[in-house]
Order: sequence, then structure tokens, then C-alpha cells
Amino acid sequence: MAKKKMIHEFMRMKQDGEKITFLTAYDFPTAQFAETAGLDMLLVGDSLGMCVYGYFGTVPVVMDQCIYHCEAVRRGAPNTFIVGDMPFMSYQSALEKAVENAGRFLKEAGCDAIKLEGGVRVVPQIKAIVEAGILVMGHIGLTPQSSGQLGGHKAQGRTLETASIVIQDAFAVQKAGAQMILLEAIPPEVAAYIAQKLSIPVLSIGAGPDCDGQLLIVSDMIGQFQAFTPKFVKKYCNVAEVVTNAMKEYVAEVKAGKFPEDDHCYHMISGEKEKFDAEFK
Ligand code: KIV
Repeated sequence: MAKKKMIHEFMRMKQDGEKITFLTAYDFPTAQFAETAGLDMLLVGDSLGMCVYGYFGTVPVVMDQCIYHCEAVRRGAPNTFIVGDMPFMSYQSALEKAVENAGRFLKEAGCDAIKLEGGVRVVPQIKAIVEAGILVMGHIGLTPQSSGQLGGHKAQGRTLETASIVIQDAFAVQKAGAQMILLEAIPPEVAAYIAQKLSIPVLSIGAGPDCDGQLLIVSDMIGQFQAFTPKFVKKYCNVAEVVTNAMKEYVAEVKAGKFPEDDHCYHMISGEKEKFDAEFK
């Protein structure tokens, strides 16, 4: 079994140009698959709001949901670095609340780090959480929790002016003490500049190939989430089709009396059937 990679290993990978592999996971079986597949890092993202609960977005997700899903993922992937995602309003309103909620991911769910959204505007939160001894991953660019302010789920940093804002955010997150940063939906040239200039590992979801690692949402990459597919997604299989076809076959076989077959039945212990027939005929 591969040894769990920790933050110093991710720093070494950045320095050596070895890409970090990162996926979301929300449940025990998916976490087991991911660990077997050799993922370096897992994110229990608040995208579980859409991918697991069917909400319209991430805003309704609450702390307890995140903790329960992190616990399940930790049980499925005991030897993988796990990042817990701080949901909307778990860190924005007060520093003390931010530190307490960040601590819950480590104490209750066995996470290795937390992620929170925002650049310059969450510097006090990052500082306070880092001072409490917790590893922090920043998340800038397209930040889904504040997509209302961004005018929807839109790529960021596509003009010189907005690229400069993203770059300022990146430097602010690193200076505040975050040990990793995730860039979402920004142009590859802006991301490449940030990855080159920052000393901490820079992960990409929709930020091109020149970052230190790549993240995808597992429900997108296995073809399970069907509501919409962002441009940056590559589907590696089509679970929705496979599972729907299997269910259709099951329905047809049950209706036709083809399932269950004799192999699927628990027969009576030898000698008991005769007694049963005599008693209950
Ligand atoms: O919740 C999540 O999965 C995320 C990704 C969109 C980066 O934050």
C-alpha cells in the first residue's frame, strides 16, 4: 500500500515538476476506487451539494453535511491526503467561527487540510486558520460560492485588468500562509505565470496544463453528473449510461420472471425441505 503523501511531498513534486493528481470524492466506495487508482489528493468539495444532494449550487451546503462526507471518504481512503471544503458561511462572518469550523474537519473527520474560497478578502481567515496549526488550500478565480457576485459560473481573468486581480489574489493567499492554492477557470497563461511565481503547489481546475497538478470533479469525469458539463471537463467514462442500462435490464428481467435464477436462491438445508412440505402443504 502506498504511503500517504503529505505537504512536504507536494512541495517536492512541485520542485521536481511531477504533477499532483487530485479528484473530488464524496463517499466511501469512490474514495476506495481513488486510493486504489493512486490519486495523490482528494477534495471533499461542497460540490457535493449538486453532485450528491441535487441542489442548484453549493450555497445550501452546511458544515454537518461536509463532515459526514469527509468521514466516509477518510474511511474509504485511509492513506490519501484529504482536503475538506469549507461551505458557504462557515468562515465568512467571523474569524473565531472560521477557525472552529476548520478545526472540525481535522478533529471529527480526519482531514489533512481545509480549502476556502477567496483571495485578498479572506486573508484574515487564512491567517487565523493557519495560526491554529491547520493546513490551508486557497481557491481563487471562479469561486462558486460567490458566483452571484461574479455574474454566474464564468471564467475569470480573461482581460488584463481581471487577470491582475487574480494574480493579486494568488500572492495574497500565499502571503497569508496558505500552503497550496487552487485556480479555477482562468486562462492558462495567467495560471502558468502564477504557478511559476508562487513557491507553494498550484492546482488547476480549468486553468490549463502548466500548473503543479490537476483537479476534476469525480461526478463529471466518470459521467455521473448530468445537469451541465463545464468546458474544462474530460469524461473518462459514462457511468450514467452504464448504470441506466443495467437498471433497464434489471427491470426487464424482473418483469419477464428471468431474475432471480436458481443460483440467487437460498435453498433449505438438506432433509429440511421434506419436513417443510409435510408441515406447510
Ligand atoms: O466543491 C468543489 O468541488 C470545488 C471545486 C469546484 C474546485 O470547490
